[in-house]
Amino acid sequence: MHQELTVLQRFAGTFLKDVNLGVILLNTDFELIDISDMACKVLGVQKSKVMNRPMEQIFISLPPEHQLIQRQILDGMIIRNHALSWTNNQQRYELLLDSNVLRDDEDRIVGAYIIFKDVTNLRSLEEQVQRSDRLAMIGQIAAGTAHEIRNPLTSIKGFLQVLRKTFEENGMDRESGYTDVMLSEIKRINELVNEFLLLSKPKHVSFEAIDLSQVLKDILPIINNEALLHGITVEYEALYGLPHVIADKELLKQVFINICKNGIEAMGDAGRLTIIERVDKEERKVNIDIRDTGPGIPLFVIDKIFDPFFTTKAEGTGLGLSVCQRIVHDVGGNIRVSSKGFGTTFTVSIPYS
Ligand SMILES: Nc1ncnc2c1ncn2[C@@H]1O[C@H](COP(=O)(O)OP(=O)(O)O)[C@@H](O)[C@H]1O
Ligand SMILES: [Mg+2]
Repeated sequence: MHQELTVLQRFAGTFLKDVNLGVILLNTDFELIDISDMACKVLGVQKSKVMNRPMEQIFISLPPEHQLIQRQILDGMIIRNHALSWTNNQQRYELLLDSNVLRDDEDRIVGAYIIFKDVTNLRSLEEQVQRSDRLAMIGQIAAGTAHEIRNPLTSIKGFLQVLRKTFEENGMDRESGYTDVMLSEIKRINELVNEFLLLSKPKHVSFEAIDLSQVLKDILPIINNEALLHGITVEYEALYGLPHVIADKELLKQVFINICKNGIEAMGDAGRLTIIERVDKEERKVNIDIRDTGPGIPLFVIDKIFDPFFTTKAEGTGLGLSVCQRIVHDVGGNIRVSSKGFGTTFTVSIPYS
């Protein structure tokens, strides 16, 4: 019996250090008797400083309703799977919490325990799944309607061009001006529909081994041209002999054009766009950084930029980045963004084998 107890005690000690759970033990005075390492980390406390102190004092800066746990739990209240958010040092944790009292042989309450799990990653996974569900649905709608829109547009465009020619031949400048406007609006609808089509699962994807340097060199004239119009300089740092990635070349061109265009649009009439190639040998990924010297992306916006239809531009579609993300995810890669007040860097990461 005696030996069993020490094993149990040893287990308790090791458990509190090793386990990836927040564990807190309290006595009947609501004082902290023991705490696991993980709880210290999540709650941002130091074990030696909080031991044997009343819970209210430990989190004295928080109003009672924001305390992790209330004194009432010592009255015998049982808590199961209570979800709550906890912010410590700008880091936000999503926690699932259980608690119950501990009783002695006579059924008297002698303390309480609180156990919580960190489910922050699960939560964001859930959000990702919801987002890609939404994307898939938009993709289906897009595939169904985009062609239906594009075909009549093509004939409208054709007849308008005929009209414009006739107007021009008859010196009807005003009318030919109208047809110009109509044609450029049609061009805009066409571009929108093209983005829609990219959003739906493209039918003619051809996966092949490609050199990302080559993709970037192919689109550089387009980027340079766009940049020149806005007085922006483009810098391109190529690496010789990048490992090849398996992807669709045309789709990847879209990705880099979209991201570079966003950068140029963000900068207004001056600035620098830098494209850098890197190889991460450890993770076996090719990374392409696209950096601009624009105003950056505010924190409250950055979570949404990959959402379809999210845009802050009067003429934007909000589809560019969601299309990019879908294309890159489909080849097992990811796009990260970092923006700290001044300038923005998008990093497209694609695995190689
Ligand atoms: N380089 C950037 N700098 C600042 N904001 C950006 C940048 N790239 C994207 N954004 C933000 O993300 C939003 C979504 O971009 P996107 O999906 O390409 O749609 P759109 O360009 O049509 O607005 C933009 O409206 C803008 O607010
Ligand atoms: Mg865009």
